[in-house]
Amino acid sequence: MDGLATASRYVRTFEFSSAGEAGAAVDEAPLVLRALVPEVLNRSYGLYTWPCAPVLAQYVFHERRRFAGAHVLELGAGTALPSIVAAKLGARVTVTDCAAAPQLLANCRRALELNAVRATVLGLSWGLVSPELLQLPPLQFILGSDVFYDEPLFEEVLRSVAFLLETSPHAEFVFSYQERSSERCLEPLLVKWRMQARQVPLAEFGADGPAVAGSDLPGNHSIQLYVVTLKQ
Ligand SMILES: C[S@@+](CC[C@H](N)C(=O)[O-])C[C@H]1O[C@@H](n2cnc3c(N)ncnc32)[C@H](O)[C@@H]1O
Repeated sequence: MDGLATASRYVRTFEFSSAGEAGAAVDEAPLVLRALVPEVLNRSYGLYTWPCAPVLAQYVFHERRRFAGAHVLELGAGTALPSIVAAKLGARVTVTDCAAAPQLLANCRRALELNAVRATVLGLSWGLVSPELLQLPPLQFILGSDVFYDEPLFEEVLRSVAFLLETSPHAEFVFSYQERSSERCLEPLLVKWRMQARQVPLAEFGADGPAVAGSDLPGNHSIQLYVVTLKQ
């Protein structure tokens, strides 16, 4: 047995729809995208979907014209919902999570298979560089859903982002953040790493309610979304 076999597995479904988007033609059928996410209960943080994930995935869906054909890398992907949505929209995706957690990477591969999409799955531990990272193509987007959850790791996440932005200086790092304490602040670290952040109001991309993509995971959590770029 692989250990996971004894844990409780299930598949969560998310549904993204263009219905009701500003500028949508009334006589056109809405675009609907379904993403299936295999989860394992009572296991590590990365084996179930966090409230930030549907919010970031909804941003990707809303920005689908920019994501189609783009090179995208997701950090700390866990169950990889934003990556699945990006891949379904035609992005070329690299899904990453902690290199020391092969069961997470196996779950990402299973998620991609379930959704019949192709993507590269890589171990990427924040703050560390591996030979595979050096071979990545230039990226347009770096994604992170709830990767700033443990304050001592904040700078390690940004160290990885800074490394990726060195070879892709025009890439955008888009992350969704769950506010767990008002005392936490990323600003000094962003300044240290020569980055700037712009908050995108959730209403701009249809993620301002307690339910997003048919899921009530976001609920009443305080979730924010930011786009980070290098300071020129
Ligand atoms: C709170 S979970 C979020 C998972 C997923 N992005 C989501 O929103 O559903 C944090 C994720 O970061 C990953 N992680 C934690 N420490 C890491 C590290 N040092 N390097 C890379 N990934 C890490 C965990 O394995 C987990 O998948």
